[in-house]
Amino acid sequence: MKKMMLICLAILFNAGLQSIAGGTDKTIANLKAAFKGESNASAKYAAYAEQARKEGLIQIATMFEATSKAEQIHAANHQTVLAKMGQKTDPLKPEFTVKTTKENLQDAISGVTYEMTTMYPGFIATAKTEDVASASKSFRWAMDTEKNHRVMYQNALNALNANKANTLSKVYWVCPKCGNTYDTAKPEATCSLCSTKRDKYIKFGK
Ligand SMILES: [Fe+2]
Ligand SMILES: [Fe+2]
Repeated sequence: MKKMMLICLAILFNAGLQSIAGGTDKTIANLKAAFKGESNASAKYAAYAEQARKEGLIQIATMFEATSKAEQIHAANHQTVLAKMGQKTDPLKPEFTVKTTKENLQDAISGVTYEMTTMYPGFIATAKTEDVASASKSFRWAMDTEKNHRVMYQNALNALNANKANTLSKVYWVCPKCGNTYDTAKPEATCSLCSTKRDKYIKFGK
């Protein structure tokens, strides 16, 4: 009996050591992948904003300018977590194709759908397993923002298809801490994701 207990303790101790030693490799890789994805998305949406402006779609251009900023904030948040873990990020060369605004909106919808339904839920689960709370929070802020972006992109596409793009919100706000994005003239007083006050939000459009 005593021997059995000692064997059990040895197994548990060994498992503990393994989790301490190998613990955060997957989360570091996921943070790097998310940093790359968010940086690329930020550059892509800035280009989509220019394209929308060329097509005279001012509200959609303003929306993409706001979401480009949001993605930049997500990338910076992931980078901060990586830096605290002693990790550097490599310089990136954004890769994307600009098409018509209708096609760009469809591309944006597929991108955020993947992030919010597959990529971030997986990354959050792994960060929890590896016990990296700061990564989990950074992933969650990005994932919840993407859910709002998806609604905005779909609304914009519907309005464009119905020749009513000029009825979309003229003003967008981005929370500087978590990147959450609001498409209303008067957003809520504190950010629903990180509790930042409304007067700190970055305004796009007028
Ligand atoms: Fe994002
Ligand atoms: Fe926020």
